[in-house]
Amino acid sequence: MEAKTNMRQAVLNLEESMIRQVANAGMGRGDVLKFWFGESDEVTPLVIRDAAAASLGQGETFYSHNLGLPELRDAIAAYSTALRCAGAAPIDAGRIAVTSGGVNALMLAVQALVDAGDEVVAVTPVWPNLTAQPVIMGATVKCVSLKPVAGQWQLDLPELLAAITPKTRLLIVNAPNNPTGWTLARGEQEAILAHCRQTGTWILADEVYERLYFEPTSHGAAPSFLDIALPEDRLVVVNSFSKSFLMTGWRLGWLVMPPAMTLHMGKLLEFNTSCAPVFVQRAGLVAIEHAADITPRVVNQLKTCRDTLVPLLQAVPGVQLTSPKGGMYAFFRLEDQTRFGDSLATAKRLVVEAGLGLAPGNAFMVNPGPAAQGWLRWCMASQDLARLGQGVQRLERWLGL
Ligand SMILES: Cc1ncc(COP(=O)(O)O)c(C=O)c1O
Repeated sequence: MEAKTNMRQAVLNLEESMIRQVANAGMGRGDVLKFWFGESDEVTPLVIRDAAAASLGQGETFYSHNLGLPELRDAIAAYSTALRCAGAAPIDAGRIAVTSGGVNALMLAVQALVDAGDEVVAVTPVWPNLTAQPVIMGATVKCVSLKPVAGQWQLDLPELLAAITPKTRLLIVNAPNNPTGWTLARGEQEAILAHCRQTGTWILADEVYERLYFEPTSHGAAPSFLDIALPEDRLVVVNSFSKSFLMTGWRLGWLVMPPAMTLHMGKLLEFNTSCAPVFVQRAGLVAIEHAADITPRVVNQLKTCRDTLVPLLQAVPGVQLTSPKGGMYAFFRLEDQTRFGDSLATAKRLVVEAGLGLAPGNAFMVNPGPAAQGWLRWCMASQDLARLGQGVQRLERWLGL
């Protein structure tokens, strides 16, 4: 008998990444313009890399506390507090756990909160890891889809609230959203929090794009559940160094949780990664110390990319797109659904026939309906604006097949 037949069904059922399938289709084609992954093509700032090198030079090769270096937890708490709007409760370092990336923080939260058989509600489209993680734990995920109205993705708040009942263990919501750029308005957050308090539902808020927000704000971040929640609320907020500090490959993130959860999260960390590597944590500390220089520059560059790419794409006949308010992505639709409805097939053809690497919209949806067909995700974060223009030209040429 094959060993794999004895593995857990939930794991056997996991789908192969659709982005990976697109990349595989392009194997052997050297000149593909790759916009499929959610990361900038810019290397991590030198001051951060130097901090990691110095830490290793000093022989910091040992375990740290499960929850992270105390000085890093303090720094994250101060950083997060400074991003909150007026009147928000300060974030205490005792509520922070340092993790190996945002994805590890999400998985830890799901392990801590979700049992087999539990019901989870997720707002989709969303980065596929968020809907897969509860399934790995044996939970069922009920999706409430944002609705594309003239290319703009919107939340049907009454529909979401109706979906969250006392049987709902956890709500998963990611805003600013990957892939749509949709963000939660303050009023929507307040309604969701009030409703979840009544139903006893935990909220897992994925706010890794909170700094990548293009609307004017007084405090440099998208609306966060941390602005309005009490420390004791059933709320876990996940964040990451990946996007705001150009640190995707470092695998460093954190979560903010209620004080009573911290001790138990430390135990759970012990059984997952034990702790994030110390030299990576040192790099994170320096990243936060330089946040005022690094992050606004990253956001400005991304805004320039958006303001370059979006009008070019909008000018292509047959492309439907609204400018994202946050995140790193242009999420657009090819209108001719008879030709382009199957986004996975379209993305594979684009990479093979046009040398353009995009992520298929279907990767972010669970059972997409007709209105959710034909979408493609373009990661806008490029240092070279000409590359974005070149990509649009390839798309245009290909559409004129
Ligand atoms: C919505 C969302 N959450 C979390 C992550 C995790 O990022 P990381 O694990 O690199 O911190 C990503 C990465 O693309 C993402 O898009």
